[in-house]
Amino acid sequence: MKIKKDVVEIVFNSLEGQLSREQIEHMLEKPQYDYMGDLAFPCFTLAKLFRQSPQSIASDIASKITNPLVEKVEAVRGYVNVFLKRDKVTNEVINEVNRSAQEYGNLDIGRGEVVTLDFSSPNIAKPFSMGHLRSTVIGNSLALVAEKCGYKTVKINHIGDWGTQFGKLIVAYRLWGKEDTLRQDPIKELLKLYVHFHEKAEHDPSLNDQAREWFKKLEEGNEEARSLWTWFREESLQEFSKIYKKLGITFDSYHGEAFYNDKMQRIVDLLEEKKMLEQSEGAHVVPLEDLPPCLIRKRDGSTLYATRDLAAAVYRQENYHFKKSLYVVGNEQSLHFQQLFTVLKKMGYEWQKGMEHISFGMMLKDGKKMSTRKGKIVLLEEVIQEAISLAMKNINDKNPQLEAKEEVARHVGTGAIIFHDLKHHRSNDIEFSLEDMLRFEGETGPYVQYTHARASSLLVKGQFEKDSDHVGIDDKEAWSVVTQLMYFPNVIKRASENSDPSQIAKYVVELSRAFNQYYGSVRVLDDASKRQARLSLVYSVKAVLKEGLRLLGLQAPEKM
Ligand code: ARG
Repeated sequence: MKIKKDVVEIVFNSLEGQLSREQIEHMLEKPQYDYMGDLAFPCFTLAKLFRQSPQSIASDIASKITNPLVEKVEAVRGYVNVFLKRDKVTNEVINEVNRSAQEYGNLDIGRGEVVTLDFSSPNIAKPFSMGHLRSTVIGNSLALVAEKCGYKTVKINHIGDWGTQFGKLIVAYRLWGKEDTLRQDPIKELLKLYVHFHEKAEHDPSLNDQAREWFKKLEEGNEEARSLWTWFREESLQEFSKIYKKLGITFDSYHGEAFYNDKMQRIVDLLEEKKMLEQSEGAHVVPLEDLPPCLIRKRDGSTLYATRDLAAAVYRQENYHFKKSLYVVGNEQSLHFQQLFTVLKKMGYEWQKGMEHISFGMMLKDGKKMSTRKGKIVLLEEVIQEAISLAMKNINDKNPQLEAKEEVARHVGTGAIIFHDLKHHRSNDIEFSLEDMLRFEGETGPYVQYTHARASSLLVKGQFEKDSDHVGIDDKEAWSVVTQLMYFPNVIKRASENSDPSQIAKYVVELSRAFNQYYGSVRVLDDASKRQARLSLVYSVKAVLKEGLRLLGLQAPEKM
């Protein structure tokens, strides 16, 4: 919103460069109560800087603020409180949103630079876990936000398709596997084999040696190993793609860990050349100052997860020239990423600064981690299907005549799951509850989608004419909706800067609440002379809710 920029500018100029425009913008607040105005600027930090009282600084700044959209300015207890001309601002904001529609809030912080996002990245021959779901929805939203902010994105699914576990799987299949059972239900069967292997290996450690041997063979290109691996991989990818399809998520690259098999030697050579490599009990490691050493090659010569990530980072820089490179992975891998980043930094790569581990907490069920290891698993596809069925049941109860029911049920069901995840700050652990997710009230995806659908149907009913210039909303009740609309670009900026989609999720709930309150107190369609102006507010809300939902990875059905 323009006035905000003006206030920033005025404060900036009166400070002679002591604070940057960004810092000032960050400090601007939305006051808690109406009588404190519409924008507030606290002067306490400045007071320390200038060794003056906050109040005298506030008065000084207040005296300099003049703007056609400002009604009055007060300096109170160290705050500059700005009161806006609400009718003028209302019309300005609404016209701006109407004009830009889904482009409202587009920013140019990215300036066309590339961000790679490594997310989802499930492991072959294992079920898609809750952790992978978290990574998938957070990563997808961050990619959409990055694009909105003017970055180019590369969405990478770093599939876990390499490593000793494939040795285990090959051994297990050769000992106990049956081709036709595996073809019927690949993921379940592969998981069974994997679990069985672990049970047996507890009593028979030689199995682990065999597994290592088979992985070694795989790395060396042994034909039998290779063909089993390809088969397991294909089957798993097919299963995963069902989930991505339901969620409406796509990737630019499926280069998994195996892709780097022939790119690791170069990294090992480089480390050797830079004298970073040391021998430790026959293995090769990079010792690090404040962290445990990073293991590069095992005693038997096979490589590790970290080795592949080093190769992947270099590959991504060379191919995509990323400015930022985000890894959306659970917080249990923090150490791994610290080691990875430190090794790259030691290798002298400047671009390493752009890499960031976007970590997140666990998904809990009754307070415990949802696990996939011991066969105690929740199959994600079943969870998604259940959410969709519940959404369908809801539609059949409330609106059985609805068109395209299947599609709406899918959008609401998956939307509920995605929203439930993204409304929490990613670093928190989340309690899984389908019931909570699907509620139509409170902070849920369906609530926001429902508000959007309500706005849509109002526009149809009132025959909203979009392209005329609508001025003249004078409803007092509209103001809280307008201020929410005004803050949308800031919310996007914050979501981008902090890699935090929950900012947007919370925002669309707030906007929905403000709108529903407005809708409850103003008869939008009743007064013909005000109808189009009021509908232009409804249209703004609809456009921003839809865009906000889109940035989270949710659809916004027109009817529900
Ligand atoms: N496949 C890994 C896992 O499930 C996640 C991979 C994350 N990405 C990466 N570049 N390390 O734990």
